[in-house]
Amino acid sequence: MSAVVLVGAQWGDEGKGRVTDFLAQKADMVVRHQGGANAGHTVVVGTQTYKLHLIPSGILYPGCVSVIAGGVVVDPWGLVEEMDYLEAAGLTLDRLRVSTQAHLVMPYHKLLDALQEERLGSERLGTTLRGIGPAYMDKAARTGIRMGELLQPDRLQQRVASQIADKRRLLGDRVDALDAQVIAGELSAIAERVRPYLANTPRLINDALDRDQNVLFESAQGTMLDNDHGTYPFVTSSHPIAGGACIGAGVGPTRINQVYGILKAYTSRVGDGPFPTELSGELADTIRERGHEYGTTTGRPRRVGWLDGVALRHAARVNGMTGVVVTSLDVLDEMPTLRIATGYKLPDGTVTTDFPDRVEDLEGVQPQLVTCPGWMAPTTEARQLQDLPSAARYYVDRIGEIVGVPVMMVSVGAERSRTITPGPLY
Ligand code: IMP
Repeated sequence: MSAVVLVGAQWGDEGKGRVTDFLAQKADMVVRHQGGANAGHTVVVGTQTYKLHLIPSGILYPGCVSVIAGGVVVDPWGLVEEMDYLEAAGLTLDRLRVSTQAHLVMPYHKLLDALQEERLGSERLGTTLRGIGPAYMDKAARTGIRMGELLQPDRLQQRVASQIADKRRLLGDRVDALDAQVIAGELSAIAERVRPYLANTPRLINDALDRDQNVLFESAQGTMLDNDHGTYPFVTSSHPIAGGACIGAGVGPTRINQVYGILKAYTSRVGDGPFPTELSGELADTIRERGHEYGTTTGRPRRVGWLDGVALRHAARVNGMTGVVVTSLDVLDEMPTLRIATGYKLPDGTVTTDFPDRVEDLEGVQPQLVTCPGWMAPTTEARQLQDLPSAARYYVDRIGEIVGVPVMMVSVGAERSRTITPGPLY
């Protein structure tokens, strides 16, 4: 039996969808446990590219059950759109399951997200404007609407109307754009479409574990965007760390066997907030273009920088990582020299190797960088570690040493086959 959690070790966009897709070949079930349509996964299978936001990439495997667990906030309109998109691409949704406990992201959540960003002005968080924060606010405030309520149309209309009335306090006349009756009517149609897929997912997932099946838990976003352990307040509103899988999916921590941290061979961040190893100018542009560093969800150009060993060690700790997966190594194929941060110099001149626990302390830190030689050769055809140029091998080994956990897999291109797995993954 194997329960493996895949977490983003950086600020999201580490290539988790691609890694999940690779590992899903042996999985019986893939579970998304937090976040919502703020996430975006691009998975390339043969000549086909799939862009997914909510549905786990396990859906691309006919034998694999794909679960949207209760910790996810679901935009029901987005879910149906994604279901239609996958069916139009010839895929079956027979094995899709959606938790009755998952909260709905409603149109007023998106308005509230935009309003908060406007009010914050230059202090804005740079959210994806998908209504994620406000949906989790309603969940914590115990006023949210859950997927299971879609099955009670009469009650639903009342709930939508009372929520819209309530939101008027915050949104003022912006709420006039929302008609409770229309929204409830649309939700009733959506309810019919998603009804066959609604399930008691904690039972489903625990049953799979009881049957010794292989279950993959796929986090969205990344550790540094975790609501508690990331660069608060420049974070998302859920828990992308491994512990979030237990809460969002409803499984006990003792059931998890492996935690793999997915990290890109460099760093990227979309949205505002501290980024100690950020690059600018030509070097940044080169990495951004080679790595196609534009948000899957918003299309925003991503900020890019050197690999940050300090942040990665923090991620290894708070996730209890048992291994790391290095993605996008090929993006660095034409870089003559590479750098990795192994410490931060604080404004008072002291150097720390611990990730600061207050965002204020991150402002003004100077990364202490070690230099690694570039390899200036293509890596995309490598299928084993020994196929890599020696400088690339050295770089991968350094990552394992700095993070303090073994490298389990390296990806050298978007396609499934462009993968190096030094040993068995589970
Ligand atoms: P929210 O999750 O839309 O509220 O955005 C909060 C922060 O998380 C912003 O900096 C977003 O850019 C970032 N974020 C949210 N989802 C993703 C993702 O899937 N990849 C990378 N960053 C994300």
